[in-house]
Amino acid sequence: MKRLARKYLPAGMQSLLRRGYYRFPLLRRLYYLPQDLAVLLRPGRDGLQPPRSLMTVGDGDFAAIGREFLQYFIELGHLRPAEKVLEVGCGVGRMAIPLTTYLDDTGSYEGFDIAPAEVAWCRKNITPRFPRFNFQHVDVLNQQTNPGGRLAAASFRLPFAGEQFDFVFLTSVFTHMLIQDIENYLREISRVLRPGGRLLTTYFLLDGETRGRLEKMNSRFRHPFGSSLAIDPKLPEASIAHEEATIRTMYHEAGLVIREPVRYGSWSGRGHFLSSQDIVLADKNGSRQR
Ligand SMILES: C[S@@+](CC[C@H](N)C(=O)[O-])C[C@H]1O[C@@H](n2cnc3c(N)ncnc32)[C@H](O)[C@@H]1O
Repeated sequence: MKRLARKYLPAGMQSLLRRGYYRFPLLRRLYYLPQDLAVLLRPGRDGLQPPRSLMTVGDGDFAAIGREFLQYFIELGHLRPAEKVLEVGCGVGRMAIPLTTYLDDTGSYEGFDIAPAEVAWCRKNITPRFPRFNFQHVDVLNQQTNPGGRLAAASFRLPFAGEQFDFVFLTSVFTHMLIQDIENYLREISRVLRPGGRLLTTYFLLDGETRGRLEKMNSRFRHPFGSSLAIDPKLPEASIAHEEATIRTMYHEAGLVIREPVRYGSWSGRGHFLSSQDIVLADKNGSRQR
């Protein structure tokens, strides 16, 4: 459906549809009602599959992507079962659900997001079964997901005390945020990470070579927004790629040291890749305490 819309609808209409997707959740529920009823009625379901109408994370396999990233958290991020984890932009629990099978009784998980219905689903369905998993809604503005948000992402203070997390991660979140907002979030993440704690983040990263490939493949990332490239000039938060050099400077200024190599993704037409987006790992102050 999305592919057809991309192919045949004019850009202005696509932009309207993108906004409508988030602004009219009731229509989304009606659209996915048959799929959601089928899941509800499936014998032996374990109650940890969110309704399709709340899976605002694209068309990929929800459960398989969650499992894929759990492996990255363990193998690349050295996540251990007893650690304290923070997920920024947790959505409807795509990553939290597989983590419930990994973190043990001394480990813990905090997640927050600006999307109220997704957070409410996690609180209702995950926390009662896994009390060490907590979810919070924060009313931060994002033109796509939360256009009426009261708080600016560029000055938002994460609702946690300093130096309390071992591992922080964001999957497919900075790919929907503007550069000045990311700058503040990186500073805040560094504040809440304990020294030696790790950060795993996905991006669409740009350099000269990537820009060349994107042009050749007639990519949807073609609308300049500052030094970034967006797929929708009227709604840059729909999907946005940022300059790798700028992101690197921000890590440095936030006291985060990137652990090389960056694992580049397939999104920009590379032949060798790990996942679809680019994955960046970093340590706070570079000291790996393990
Ligand atoms: C593509 S979804 C990914 C959700 C989740 N990370 C996952 O991988 O399933 C992007 C998420 O980022 C959230 N988001 C966007 N801007 C945010 C912000 N400033 N702070 C926290 N979450 C944000 C959206 O509400 C949405 O849930």
